[in-house]
Amino acid sequence: MLVTLALLLGLPLALTAEPLTCAPLTTVTFDNATIHGLLGEWIYIAGASRNPPDLAELKEVKYAAFSFSPGSHKDELNATEIMRLNETCVERNTTKILILWHNSTLVHVSDQVLSMAELIPSDKDLLIMKHVNANFPSLSLSGE
Ligand SMILES: *[C@@H]1O[C@H](CO)[C@@H](O)[C@H](O)[C@H]1NC(C)=O
Ligand SMILES: *[C@@H]1O[C@H](CO)[C@@H](O)[C@H](O)[C@H]1NC(C)=O
Ligand SMILES: *[C@@H]1O[C@H](CO)[C@@H](O)[C@H](O)[C@H]1NC(C)=O
Ligand SMILES: *[C@@H]1O[C@H](CO)[C@@H](O)[C@H](O)[C@H]1NC(C)=O
Ligand SMILES: *[C@@H]1O[C@H](CO)[C@@H](O)[C@H](O)[C@H]1NC(C)=O
Repeated sequence: MLVTLALLLGLPLALTAEPLTCAPLTTVTFDNATIHGLLGEWIYIAGASRNPPDLAELKEVKYAAFSFSPGSHKDELNATEIMRLNETCVERNTTKILILWHNSTLVHVSDQVLSMAELIPSDKDLLIMKHVNANFPSLSLSGE
């Protein structure tokens, strides 16, 4: 039923779509509205990576949810997350997300580990992050 609906809704989009090209995926250029749209709770749906060790880590994530709230100033968001890795529940109450306005990148600082992500344009209820760590890009999909 839902699939049918999605197909029907997808049809007008498909008809008006640009011709196919080999151009790489564009990312979102941040403005205040982008950041405002990130606020609130997200449920992780799936992730993909071309790097086998990352893929192994992704497989351990059985469930994850996170939320973003305004940080201490305009270049920061506060984040909390909770996830189940195999059978273990891991909770991180406040970590910081730095907003790099000059190249529209989010930087997550957690346990001395830096991870960076750009955003892929999507519906406002979907958060698609392109994680740009090392040489292996990965994607994650989360829903509101
Ligand atoms: C974005 O928000 C900041 C502070 O909240 C404000 O100073 C700035 O003018 C806003 N920029 C735009 C383009 O709305
Ligand atoms: C964000 O987190 C920092 C550090 O934990 C905290 O001091 C600050 O009050 C938080 N900001 C908001 C708006 O909750
Ligand atoms: C999760 O389970 C896999 C396979 O059983 C194991 O290799 C991995 O080390 C476990 N990870 C954690 C964080 O427990
Ligand atoms: C996070 O916050 C919740 C509720 O405020 C609290 O019950 C929990 O112990 C905190 N966890 C950590 C790791 O600080
Ligand atoms: C954004 O800029 C920071 C340094 O300011 C850099 O480390 C990072 O790699 C850049 N991100 C992208 C996607 O270009």
